[in-house]
Amino acid sequence: MSEFIPILTREEIEKRVAEVAQEISNDYRDRDLILIGILKGAFIFLADLIRHLSIPVQVDFMCASSYGRSTSSSGRVKLIKDVELDLKSKHVIIVEDIVDTGVTLAYLVEHLKSSGAASVGICALIDKHERRKVEVEVDYICHAVDKGFLVGYGLDYAEFYRNLPEVYHLKL
Ligand code: IMP
Ligand code: MG
Repeated sequence: MSEFIPILTREEIEKRVAEVAQEISNDYRDRDLILIGILKGAFIFLADLIRHLSIPVQVDFMCASSYGRSTSSSGRVKLIKDVELDLKSKHVIIVEDIVDTGVTLAYLVEHLKSSGAASVGICALIDKHERRKVEVEVDYICHAVDKGFLVGYGLDYAEFYRNLPEVYHLKL
């Protein structure tokens, strides 16, 4: 039987998302900002985050895959969908569900820089340390954990559990 151990309640998520949105609003007050949600995991986080921003913002999406149906990274990143907005001289923040090895984000940061973005920041719902392979500087973090496979609030296991309103550690 799989076990679901609670990590973040609805209230904790709501509070941290609002705080992080406030930080971003302060930091980007005088800059043209584009938030880029990484599909699919970040779609719920992004939707909540942008509704707490108090500055103008544009939104776009990218989709990258390194996983398949397992719970550990394949180490290769495939770009499935690129951004559609023109990023030239724009300040962008990547909005990601979880940073694990860092391989996906390292790839996406390079890709966005080469698309002409003036700066590339990173905002993650969860920063998971134990399996980090590539140094990535995560500018905004809602919650940090050491290890464990997490699901809920957009995070999936084999495409399931994205709809759970809280975040759980899934023990298979
Ligand atoms: P990385 O390239 O190893 O940092 O992997 C990042 C991606 O792997 C995330 O965007 C997620 O899609 C997926 N991932 C990593 N850890 C978890 C987890 O604990 N739960 C669900 N997805 C995860
Ligand atoms: Mg993802």
